[in-house]
Amino acid sequence: MIQVTNLVKRFDDQEVLHGMDVTVKRGEVLAIIGPSGSGKSTFLRCLNLLELPTMGSIQIDNVILSFQEHKRIADREIRKLRGKTGMVFQSFHLFPHMTAKQNVMEGPIQVKGISTSRAVSLAEHLLIQVGLKDKQDAYPDQLSGGQQQRVAIARALAMEPEVLLLDEPTSALDPELVGEVLATIRQLAKGNQTMLIVTHELSFAREVADRILFIDQGQIVEQGRPQDIFEYPQKDRTKQFLERFNQL
Ligand SMILES: Nc1ncnc2c1ncn2[C@@H]1O[C@H](COP(=O)(O)OP(=O)(O)OP(=O)(O)O)[C@@H](O)[C@H]1O
Ligand SMILES: [Mg+2]
Repeated sequence: MIQVTNLVKRFDDQEVLHGMDVTVKRGEVLAIIGPSGSGKSTFLRCLNLLELPTMGSIQIDNVILSFQEHKRIADREIRKLRGKTGMVFQSFHLFPHMTAKQNVMEGPIQVKGISTSRAVSLAEHLLIQVGLKDKQDAYPDQLSGGQQQRVAIARALAMEPEVLLLDEPTSALDPELVGEVLATIRQLAKGNQTMLIVTHELSFAREVADRILFIDQGQIVEQGRPQDIFEYPQKDRTKQFLERFNQL
């Protein structure tokens, strides 16, 4: 369902992704782990074209785009691919002047053109799903970080994305708020939502992911089932990375 082929990303002269090949099946949960600066966020941002890949191709569902240096991609094509994805950022990015419900309604109304009444019922349904039935009319500054992040997840889901991309969704949260966001993600995984999650929560990655992708210096070092990667890593780089975490 998602096929990324030979994805290269350069910033000026610095190449940060060196030709990544990744396939994700529908309903699969892929956790991306790796050291800081290894290209995890850049990879996710390339998938929804917040960063334009330098080379390679991305297919999500029935939309395929290929990239070459200096080749312009039409805005219409960008929107088509982006419409297949929903993004959840470390720092929530909610609209501060809108309530939780309005935040969730905004995309479906503006981008999909659905009626206000349908958007209201969709938003209410999604906010219940993320455990925020009582906070629908609260503004972001009246919500805890964990609640804001759950609104952000509901907002991404409101666009019915083929794939949800989450970039360290819990790393800006106080420790006691991490659990509620992880519980929401866990529930989505059970509901067969395809997800790519960049995370430093290795025990969570192990529990929730169908597959782990370990990347270092813009390359996939190793990938496989969580128990294989965590218990029997094959590559020295993977072993070193996991050992460092085990010591923390
Ligand atoms: N907009 C940009 N312009 C120039 N270089 C960038 C840009 N964004 C990222 N980079 C570089 O690309 C490399 C990969 O960065 P990226 O943010 O993808 O790493 P990461 O794996 O997400 O790290 P972290 O775990 O710290 O979030 C880094 O060397 C970074 O400096
Ligand atoms: Mg990052």
